[in-house]
Amino acid sequence: MASLEAHYSARDIEARILAAVRAAGLNPEQRLSPEELAALDHFHTGGLRASRELLELAQIRAEDRVLDIGAGLAGPARLLASALGCRVDCLELSPDFCAGAVLLNRLTGLDDRIEVHKGSALDLPFPDDSFDVVWMQNVGMNIADKRKLYGEIYRVLKPGGRYAFQEMAAGEAATSYFPLPWATDPADSFLVSAEETRSVLGEIGFIAELFEDTSDAHLSRTTADAAPSPLTLGVYVDNLAQKAGNARRSLKEGQIRLVRGVFRVK
Ligand SMILES: C[S@@+](CC[C@H](N)C(=O)[O-])C[C@H]1O[C@@H](n2cnc3c(N)ncnc32)[C@H](O)[C@@H]1O
Repeated sequence: MASLEAHYSARDIEARILAAVRAAGLNPEQRLSPEELAALDHFHTGGLRASRELLELAQIRAEDRVLDIGAGLAGPARLLASALGCRVDCLELSPDFCAGAVLLNRLTGLDDRIEVHKGSALDLPFPDDSFDVVWMQNVGMNIADKRKLYGEIYRVLKPGGRYAFQEMAAGEAATSYFPLPWATDPADSFLVSAEETRSVLGEIGFIAELFEDTSDAHLSRTTADAAPSPLTLGVYVDNLAQKAGNARRSLKEGQIRLVRGVFRVK
């Protein structure tokens, strides 16, 4: 995870977020909408669009209790809470991101529906059978022990619960362009192939409802230049342009693949 961290303290990240919000012409004293913040807080391939698509695919309902693992600044959690009205628990390793998530939950008035917990995906601080949905976007690339990770997800899901995710998977060739958004060098990157992901999930007891490779669809989307905005991932990711460029090149050359899925507990 080295390259995800910008080595800011919680107070720094809060100050950076508030400065970016103000620079974008928004007033943090007035309630902000999750959509206004989406370019800042959907920290994964495809941004808000990918989150909306996964929300549809996972068929999440208002009454579902959702756990977002590796929630970052909790942009996806706010989308779920605001669009569907469901309750979301966020689990995040970095105290800085936890502080940023709490701040943005408050600024959007969603802090009564979203709770932020600092902790590890490999040791989830929740009892068995707690959640209807576990949601995870662009996190597994930083976690070596996939069996432990998926075992923990299975444990906290209720019978019939769903695991909805998108991840980078290993491609046919080894990754060679660094830094990537999730790894400064190869030692930080724990990609496995799509086949291995499916196989480990199956061994744990999950049944695939949907599993697809969206690399080509992602690459074929024209990346129309958005108007420059102070609200970007660059508020907390250093060398963003280089990392994003390397990720796109790696995807184009088949070194990495973008996959997503919805798996159900038996
Ligand atoms: C690329 S960001 C994605 C954030 C969020 N899922 C999103 O899409 O906006 C990856 C996040 O996973 C978190 N993370 C990495 N390893 C983790 C672990 N073992 N347990 C919990 N969170 C972890 C990082 O701190 C980071 O916030």
